[in-house]
Amino acid sequence: MNKPFILNLLSVVWLGLCLGACSPYTDQPIRSGEIWPDDRGEHINAHGGGVLYHDNTFYWFGEHKGERSSSAFVGVTCYSSKDLVNWKYEGVALSVSDDPESDITRGCTLERPKVIYNAKTGKFVMWFHLELKGKGYSAARAAVAVSDNVTGPYTYLGSGRVNPGIMAENITAEDFAWLDSLEEPLESWTPEWLEAVARGLYFKRDFEGGQMSRDMTLYVDDDGKAYHVYSSEENLTLNIAELSDDYLSHSGRYVRVAPAGHNEAPALFKRNGTYWMITSGCTGWDPNAARMFSAPSIFGPWTQHPNPCKGDQADITYGGQSTYILPVPGKKDLYIFMADIWRPRHPIDARYIWLPIQFEEDGTPFLEWMDEWNIKDYR
Ligand code: GAL
Repeated sequence: MNKPFILNLLSVVWLGLCLGACSPYTDQPIRSGEIWPDDRGEHINAHGGGVLYHDNTFYWFGEHKGERSSSAFVGVTCYSSKDLVNWKYEGVALSVSDDPESDITRGCTLERPKVIYNAKTGKFVMWFHLELKGKGYSAARAAVAVSDNVTGPYTYLGSGRVNPGIMAENITAEDFAWLDSLEEPLESWTPEWLEAVARGLYFKRDFEGGQMSRDMTLYVDDDGKAYHVYSSEENLTLNIAELSDDYLSHSGRYVRVAPAGHNEAPALFKRNGTYWMITSGCTGWDPNAARMFSAPSIFGPWTQHPNPCKGDQADITYGGQSTYILPVPGKKDLYIFMADIWRPRHPIDARYIWLPIQFEEDGTPFLEWMDEWNIKDYR
């Protein structure tokens, strides 16, 4: 045997050993819908959440839910994991306030928190959907908090409607003029009303004060630009809004997506240059059929595809509602679809659906229920 051959052989063996030993993923499967105990043996309490991968660790942030109420009496919780199966409770990342004057006073509605890391500032930035205490879902605000440490504590910075007085890139002065010419009020859900909504009926109504912002996610692109994606216009239209360089505010660049399409629970990922977004319809805590969109650029144009779910209960997303899509580092084609199975009468018992997104030969994503699956089975 010659020397280069032996050296090559040794490096292959070494690589094999390292891949085995260095992979953080475990043989333990992911079982959607079951109780997921944390390191204390308590079911993970991080609903409507998202996962940040930072310094070889996953951080899961979500809504803390109580026994009887879906309102925020605790705040945003954080869990950490190396393998996405075993989770350590890291405590409350953002606490609700004891000050009754605070926007985030105990008893407010604080939903769908997402955290991203800003490499330029070295800060962790959290955005969430905020509803003021005792005001139902009328405030429809986007809220932001920041921390120097990934697990917190996060400092609440403020909240509001989005991009007041700023035109979306894909609505025109003609749309505004056409809306002015309408004889209002139009009857809801008629074709005329839907056309008016699509051309900006609620957009125009909210233009000066800023656009409504409810169900939301964040997406950080490869170039470091971050986007806030939220249900706006009475949940009838999605907005995709670019954040400022420090991620703490909006840059003013934004588009309306699927106007009058009635989408909630947006979750995004990008694969081979195509942006994919999975959403739900709007039926509150009750599950409905997922929707899917794709675009060649984050600002669109976005094209709608059929429901990505297949098989039993595909028409109700297997009982869940999307919250986030996590690309798994070190796994070329593994994107985890994360969803919540809400339990509005016993909110703390809400469950999680995590399924690997599958791809048709033409690259179109789809989902199938799996009782259990293993991250290790993906390359
Ligand atoms: C859902 C929404 C949740 C929560 C709920 C309240 O449609 O996705 O985040 O707002 O409605 O009914």
